[in-house]
Amino acid sequence: MKMPPRDGPPSSGGATGPPSSRSPGPLSTRMPGSPSSARGALSPTQVVGRSITDQIETVLAQFLSPAVRKSVIDCGIRQARVDPLYAREGDLRRLLVEVKRGVKLFVRDQAQLDRCITELGELDHAAPAPREITIEVRNEEDVLRARSAGRELCIEHLVSDVLQTKIVTAISELGRNIVRYAGNGQVIVRSLTSPMRAIEIVAQDHGPGISNLQEILSGKYRSRHGMGAGLRGTKALMDAFDVKTAPGAGTTVTVRKYLG
Ligand SMILES: Nc1ncnc2c1ncn2[C@@H]1O[C@H](COP(=O)(O)OP(=O)(O)OP(=O)(O)O)[C@@H](O)[C@H]1O
Ligand SMILES: [Mg+2]
Repeated sequence: MKMPPRDGPPSSGGATGPPSSRSPGPLSTRMPGSPSSARGALSPTQVVGRSITDQIETVLAQFLSPAVRKSVIDCGIRQARVDPLYAREGDLRRLLVEVKRGVKLFVRDQAQLDRCITELGELDHAAPAPREITIEVRNEEDVLRARSAGRELCIEHLVSDVLQTKIVTAISELGRNIVRYAGNGQVIVRSLTSPMRAIEIVAQDHGPGISNLQEILSGKYRSRHGMGAGLRGTKALMDAFDVKTAPGAGTTVTVRKYLG
C-alpha cells in the first residue's frame, strides 16, 4: 500500500508535512523530558516525526475500530516511551514492537493479523538488515564472546530484556556443552527478518554426538557432569528447537526465538 512520506522537517504542531499529519489526531501526548529546546538541532533525516503515527494509524485503520486503534497506539507510545513529535528511527522501532504487541490482542483472524504485522513492519525502512556472527568455541571465554554476540544482536533489534536473557542463556548452555562434550565447535548467532523477526542460534560441533537424545529431552536422564537440564531447559526457553546428532558424527543444535 502507498504510504505518505515518513521523513521530513520537524513540523510545528503538524502545520507542515502531508495533509494527514495536520490533524490533531490522538497522538499529541507529550512525554516528560522531550527535547523541546533541542528541536532545532535535529537533522531532518533523523526525525521520524509526527507522520509516523499517522502512518501507523493508516495501517491500523484497515483492521481496528477507531477506539481500539487509538488505545493500541496510545498504549504503544507509553510502553515504548516515545514522544511521537520527536521520535527518531530507534524510537520508531520500539513503538512498532509495542503496537504489534497490541495488535495481536485485538486482531483475531490469523491472515489479517499477518497482513497487519507485515504492513507495520514495512514502515520501518531503517530496520537492521539480517546479520550473523560466528564464534569459534573452545573454552569458557569463547562462550562469553558468544553471549556478547547474542546480546549485540538483541540490542540491535531492540529485543526486550526478558527475551534477551532467554537468548543469552540458550547460547551459554549450548556453548558450554560444546566445550564440555565436544572440545570445540562453533556458535552462530543470526538475526532473521523474514518470514518473521527472530534470533537464531546454531551450535555445531564434530564431537562424539548424543546417543540418548530422547531420554535427555524426556527428563529421565541423569547427567554425570551437570544437572542434565541444559538441552531440555533450552528447548523450554526457545520457540523452535532442533537437534541433529548421531554417535561419532557430531551435533548441531538449532534454536530460534521469535521477536514478534
Ligand atoms: N554437543 C554435545 N556433544 C556430545 N554430547 C552432548 C552435547 N551436548 C550435550 N551432550 C550430552 O547430553 C547430555 C545432556 O546435556 P544437557 O546440556 O542437557 O545437560 P548437562 O550438560 O549434562 O548438564 P547441565 O547442562 O544441566 O549442566 C550431556 O550430559 C551429554 O552427555
Ligand atoms: Mg549442558
